Amino acid sequence: MKTLTAAGITRRAIARMSKCRDPRLKQIVRALTNHLHDFAREVKLTPEEWQAGIEFLTAVGHITDEKRQEFILLSDTLGLSAIVDLMANRKGGANATDSSLLGPFFRQGAPIFSMDGDVSHGASGDKLLVAGRVLNTAGKPVAGALIDTWQASSDGIYDLQQKDSDLMNFRGRLRTGADGRFRFRSVKPSSYPVPSDGPVGKMLLALARHPYRPAHVHFKIAAPGYRTLTTALYIAGDRYLDSDVVFGAKKSLVVSYRRSETNGAASTIEFDFVLDRKESTNKRSRRKLAASV
Ligand code: BEZ
Ligand code: FE
Repeated sequence: MKTLTAAGITRRAIARMSKCRDPRLKQIVRALTNHLHDFAREVKLTPEEWQAGIEFLTAVGHITDEKRQEFILLSDTLGLSAIVDLMANRKGGANATDSSLLGPFFRQGAPIFSMDGDVSHGASGDKLLVAGRVLNTAGKPVAGALIDTWQASSDGIYDLQQKDSDLMNFRGRLRTGADGRFRFRSVKPSSYPVPSDGPVGKMLLALARHPYRPAHVHFKIAAPGYRTLTTALYIAGDRYLDSDVVFGAKKSLVVSYRRSETNGAASTIEFDFVLDRKESTNKRSRRKLAASV
């Protein structure tokens, strides 16, 4: 029996995967093992430090339930989700709208609104009108696209964080008309801290990082024949645009308030979302797969 060195353990751990029949799984776990072992060697990780790491991950698991996903938050605050999102959503059509993180506050089955509906149900806050079109990459309207929108209140709180979290507010679903247009009313969102009362909050504090996201409104837009777009619009001038705690804000998604007299809304944000056709993703995925095997 050989005495194992640190490098020898890495080699053996990888060799033990040799019979795995799933090439992609093998590629991922092999790279993960290599990087984890390199990381431990690079920082000369001590048993006490690794124990603290395990306790941290255990706490992340314990606080996670169907309404709170601390693992996603961990991935988001470490920038991993933003990297995965960026790689998956490289633009197909040159002018397709950039994606942005889904985040933990999306909910299925939001109430349905017609044109000019108020997704804030008259909540207090500065009135906002959100308007625009859904287009394809050739600039033609996409009729009947299903838009899910959700946002924090003007106090920076999502409905899921309220006491009665079963109630849905500041979110809704609506369809574009024949001209691809949509329009709804709401209140101005505010920047807000991601949930910071758990282990990820402690981690941010220990790293001297603030927990804030810049003010934004989320969108998930689906239409037959098109890739579903998950994105958000960020408000120009927000102090956290350049230091978004989850690295989600993108320059191409920043919009400014315009004054408007329509529908009693004091401010309007307007944006045309451009959807990419499904087949360009399929071609891309096939190319990616071919390159990875
Ligand atoms: C959000 O924008 O809702 C969000 C995204 C990532 C982490 C926390 C919140
Ligand atoms: Fe958000």
